[in-house]
Amino acid sequence: MMVGIVGLGSYVPEQVVTNADLEKILDTTDGWIKSRSGITERRFARKDQATSDLAQIAAERALEDAHLSPNDIDLIIVGTNSPDMLYPATACLLQEMIGARNAAAFDLQAGCPGWVYAVTAGTQFIQSGMYKNVLVVGAEVITRMMDNTDRGTYVLFGDGAGATVLSTVEHGGFLSFELFADGSLAQYLTLPAGGSRKPFSKEVLKERSYFTKMDGQAVFRFSVREISRISKKVLDKANVPLESVDWFVPHQANLRIIQSGAQELGIPMEKVVVTIDKYGNSSAASIPIALDKIYTEGKLKNGDKVLMVSFGAGMTSGAIIMEWSR
Ligand code: ACO
Repeated sequence: MMVGIVGLGSYVPEQVVTNADLEKILDTTDGWIKSRSGITERRFARKDQATSDLAQIAAERALEDAHLSPNDIDLIIVGTNSPDMLYPATACLLQEMIGARNAAAFDLQAGCPGWVYAVTAGTQFIQSGMYKNVLVVGAEVITRMMDNTDRGTYVLFGDGAGATVLSTVEHGGFLSFELFADGSLAQYLTLPAGGSRKPFSKEVLKERSYFTKMDGQAVFRFSVREISRISKKVLDKANVPLESVDWFVPHQANLRIIQSGAQELGIPMEKVVVTIDKYGNSSAASIPIALDKIYTEGKLKNGDKVLMVSFGAGMTSGAIIMEWSR
């Protein structure tokens, strides 16, 4: 039984934050940010918007694209690192917001590969026969997890959401999946406080440990290694040669990571989807947003082979090779 994407939609908040805006609050420059990350601007959610609000708009667009009603959805999985709150799951809030009364709902937290992990999980529910239509959303207001006094992280991130409806397809669909985690590297990218290890306290406030802490160079090295390793693995599994890949949709964390991954794999930049310049790193939302970009631009054609790969906190990585069929 083949499973694929039968509906796709995305949303990025309207507020554009440029590098020049960040120069005013941080010891940074447009030149540094552009040359080190490829980012020129990013989107920030409005103060009254949380992750579920962004997810709702993306999900409604995906449902419309799939020509399905919310009641047709059997399961909602939200891949996120910036849930509305620790509990309940953002997926439950989303279920209520879109009126998907028949759907079970849970969040999946796997760093930036959250959407890749969630699509892999959602597909298993369909292939097992338990569910027919699964809504998988990657959604983040990740900028709220960033310290606006830390130039090493604050400049890199942006908010957004991408949603996909999964169902059975007659041709193509997902050809193979590959997931990976290495918890021995967990310390490189963390949000230390607010959980059971370090609940909120005066100390937490003082050390600002309720914000993301990142060893940028360690994350960079892991990402460059994983992007080519796991891509080759997922392609081998599906017996798809690299030359057959029409679109390479990597997680948008840093243009230099994307370029070196593409170079290592031998994929020309014309086949690489890049959104980091405009949206920054929107974590688990970056791949569905990038996919929706080539879809709405009419570039994604039936039969196209799309390689999607992500890496992030955990440390985790994940890859999917898909044949687009609509
Ligand atoms: N503006 C100006 N200078 C800066 C900034 C900034 N915004 N940030 C750091 N610097 C300085 C540093 O302090 C350092 O100064 P020093 O040499 O005086 O000590 C200098 O720039 C070089 O810093 P590096 O960290 O060596 O810079 P690098 O070239 O490694 O780039 C970056 C940093 C962009 C963070 C890069 O390492 C990176 O992209 N890493 C991967 C990050 C990533 O992908 N994170 C998300 C993972 S996905 C997820 O799960 C959320």
